Amino acid sequence: MSLVNSLKWRYAAKRMSGEKISDEQLSTILEATRLSASSFGLQPYTIIVVTNPEIKKQLRSAAYDQSQVEDSSHLLVFTIWNSINESHIDEYMMDIAKGRGTDISTLDGFKQTLLGTVNRLDESQQQAWASRQAYIALGTALAAAAEQGVDATPMEGFDPKKFDEILNLNEKGLRSVVILALGKRAEDDSFAEAPKIRRSVNELYKFVA
Ligand SMILES: Cc1cc2nc3c(=O)[nH]c(=O)nc-3n(C[C@H](O)[C@H](O)[C@H](O)COP(=O)(O)O)c2cc1C
Repeated sequence: MSLVNSLKWRYAAKRMSGEKISDEQLSTILEATRLSASSFGLQPYTIIVVTNPEIKKQLRSAAYDQSQVEDSSHLLVFTIWNSINESHIDEYMMDIAKGRGTDISTLDGFKQTLLGTVNRLDESQQQAWASRQAYIALGTALAAAAEQGVDATPMEGFDPKKFDEILNLNEKGLRSVVILALGKRAEDDSFAEAPKIRRSVNELYKFVA
C-alpha cells in the first residue's frame, strides 16, 4: 500500500481486540520511531513500552477508562526528560564521536551551541521543547504503524501525574506527555468505517509562489 493509502486506512481505534501484533511489526514500528528527526538530534525523550496486563489495567483507570489502553497489544508511553543537563549533552557528543569516528574535541562548537540553546530555557520551556520532539516521534510511530497495518490510537486523554506514579517515572527523571495504543481494531468498532474528516487542501495550505 502507498503511504497515502495506509494513512487513509488508519484511524484512531476506539476499541481494540486485545490481540497481539507480531514481533516483526513491533520492531519495525519501534525502529522507525527511533529514526525520527529531533531538534539537534538530541531526542530528549524515552518511550516506555508496556505489555504487562496488570499495569495496563491500572493505566486504563488513569486514562478515563479508555479501553484501548488495556486492550492494546503494546502501549507506548512517550515520556520527556524532566530537565536536560550537561551530562545528557555529553553523552550525545560521545555517541556522535563514536558513531562517526571523529575526535570528540571537534564537536566543541556544536556542544556549546546546544548547551546554550538548552540553558536559555527554563525548566518548563525545556519540557515544552522536549514534548515537541516527542510528538514528532509520535507522528513517525503513527505513520509506521499504518504502513505495517497495525492499528494505533494516539491519546492525550489520560492523567499524566497518575501515569507517572504507576510507572515510577519521577524516580527515572521522566514525565509522560502522550501515549500510543498499538493493536488490532475490534470488529465492532464503528469508527473504522467513518469517513475521514480533514480540512481541504485549499483550507490547509496557502501556497506562496
Ligand atoms: C495528540 C492526540 C491526542 C489524542 N487523544 C485521543 C484520546 O485521548 N482518545 C481518543 O480516542 N482519541 C484521541 N486522539 C485521536 C483523534 O481524536 C483522532 O486522531 C482525530 O479525531 C482524527 O481522526 P483519525 O485519526 O481517526 O483519522 C488523539 C489524537 C492526537 C493526535
